[in-house]
Amino acid sequence: MEQLASFSMLLLLSFLLFSSLVHSHRPDPSPVQTPNEQQLPSWRLRAARAGLSADSGLAASKRYEGSSDLVHLRYHMGPVLSSPLSIYLIWYGRWEPAQQSTIRDFLLSISDAAAPSPSVHEWWSTVALYTDQTGANITRSVSIAREVEDPRRSRGAVLTRLSIQQVIAEAVATHHLPVDHRNGVYLVLTAPEVSVQDFCRAVCGFHYFTFPSIVGYTLPYAWVGNSATQCPGVCAYPFVVPEYMVGTAAMAPPNGDPGVDGMVSVIGHELAELSSNPLVNSWYAGDDPTAPTEIADLCEGVYGTGGGGSYTGQVRSDGAGRKYNLNGKGGRRFLVQWVWSPMLKACAGPNAID
Ligand SMILES: *[C@@H]1O[C@H](CO)[C@@H](O)[C@H](O)[C@H]1NC(C)=O
Repeated sequence: MEQLASFSMLLLLSFLLFSSLVHSHRPDPSPVQTPNEQQLPSWRLRAARAGLSADSGLAASKRYEGSSDLVHLRYHMGPVLSSPLSIYLIWYGRWEPAQQSTIRDFLLSISDAAAPSPSVHEWWSTVALYTDQTGANITRSVSIAREVEDPRRSRGAVLTRLSIQQVIAEAVATHHLPVDHRNGVYLVLTAPEVSVQDFCRAVCGFHYFTFPSIVGYTLPYAWVGNSATQCPGVCAYPFVVPEYMVGTAAMAPPNGDPGVDGMVSVIGHELAELSSNPLVNSWYAGDDPTAPTEIADLCEGVYGTGGGGSYTGQVRSDGAGRKYNLNGKGGRRFLVQWVWSPMLKACAGPNAID
C-alpha cells in the first residue's frame, strides 16, 4: 500500500547494529520492525510481515528475484482498475517545468508501445496480468486527463494524510477538476518544501481512496513527495546514498534529478498498487487489510536480475554513466522497481537477464 521508507531504514538498522557512533538525524526505525526482521532484505521483510516464513523457502529459490511459493498474494473479490486510466495531476507547491515533464513522460510511457525494449510499457504488462472476479484485466491504457497547479499551497506547507484529500477537494471545487468515477485517478505530487505526515519517517508515497465526507465522492488517489531536500537518502535511493552506507556509490539518475527520478519509481509503485487494489479489497498478501502487502511492496528495491537487500540488481548505463532499467516515450529513460508477477510468483521486469 505504501512505498515504505523501510528499505533504507533496514540498511540504517543493520549499520546501527555495528556502530554506536551514529545518532539519529535519520528517520526513526519503523515500530513494526522486530530485531529479526531487521536482518532481512526488504522484500523478505515484507513477506515476513505478511505472515510468511522468511527463511528457507525464500532463500532457497534463486531462479527469480524474490520468488517464493510462500508469498500468498490473494484476491479478496474487490475491483481492479480495468477501465482506461485518466490521471488528474495535482502539482502542490513549486515545481520546475523540467521536473514536470520528466514525470509526465513517465506516465505517458505506460501506454507507449513504441518505446524500445525494455520499456515502461512492458513493465506495466506485469501489472496488467491482474484481473478481478469478472476476469477483467487491469487496463494498459493510461493518459493524463488534466493538470492543476497549487504553487501557493492552499492547505499549507505541512499536510496530513487527510489534508491531502482536502487538496483534492479544493482542486475539484476551485479548479473544476472533474469528478471522474469511471476512469479517474488523482495523483497529488508535493514539491520538496512540503512536509507530509509520515513522509521520510515511514513512507515515500501512498495510495488510498477519498472519503465522501471530505471530497464528496470515493475516488482512488495517490500521493508521492519529492524528497530532494528532506530525505533523499531514504526516498531517492539509489540516486542518493545515506551517509551511513560508507563505500556505496550513488547511481547517476537517468534524468539528472535525484528527487524527481526517485519519485518516478515511487509513482510506478503506487500506480501499480492502486490499480490492483484500489479500494484495498482486491490483491494483497497478509491477513491484515489495514497493513496490506501489495504487488509493489513485495519488490521494493529490486530493479533488475539479482536485486535484493542493498543491491538494486542488474541495471543499464547510458553513455554518460546514468543508470536506468526502462525506456520510455521520446527516448526518455527511467529506473523503476519491479512488481510481483502472479504468473512467476516472483518479482518481474522486462530488463530481466536469463
Ligand atoms: C489478463 O490476465 C490473465 C491472467 O493473469 C493473463 O493470462 C492475460 O495474459 C492477461 N491479458 C492481458 C491483455 O494482459
